[in-house]
Amino acid sequence: MTSLYEALAADLEELWGGERDFFVRAANMAALLFWHLPEVNWVGFYLRDGEELVLGPFQGKPACQRIPIGRGVCGRAAREQRTILVPDVRSFPDYIACSPETLSELVIPLCADGCLYGVLDLDSPCLGRFTAEDAAALERLTHRLLLAADRARLRQYYRL
Ligand code: SME
Repeated sequence: MTSLYEALAADLEELWGGERDFFVRAANMAALLFWHLPEVNWVGFYLRDGEELVLGPFQGKPACQRIPIGRGVCGRAAREQRTILVPDVRSFPDYIACSPETLSELVIPLCADGCLYGVLDLDSPCLGRFTAEDAAALERLTHRLLLAADRARLRQYYRL
């Protein structure tokens, strides 16, 4: 799996080129992950807007548009600013079901400059789809996403 993520990281850097707009970068990242990672049915971003997360660039079926920080897997990862891996969503007490097909989930917070920008969310129709290795590789990719993004513009947009 490591070599898959290494290849994806190289593809992403090539796709991004010198583009600094966060939404452009995030949109292509969601598409690349959705089409290249096996057994995923949704990949996307929720961005922080005050005390809520709002739906951002994604691939997959339509999803819930706003999640209060602290609620669901996404809101919990945002509040605690840590990656959350859920092998079986049926055993996550405050799970927000956007799709009945989803059985496991991985959520990674987007943090930089001491600021929470949002989360990256991946869903799978398979139980236990995501491993600690997926989490570590995706944390590295989100770091790259934010590193060259125009974060000042993003902070201004959401008044962060
Ligand atoms: N299941 C998530 C909601 C977002 S969807 O999976 C796209 C949650 O519990 O936060």
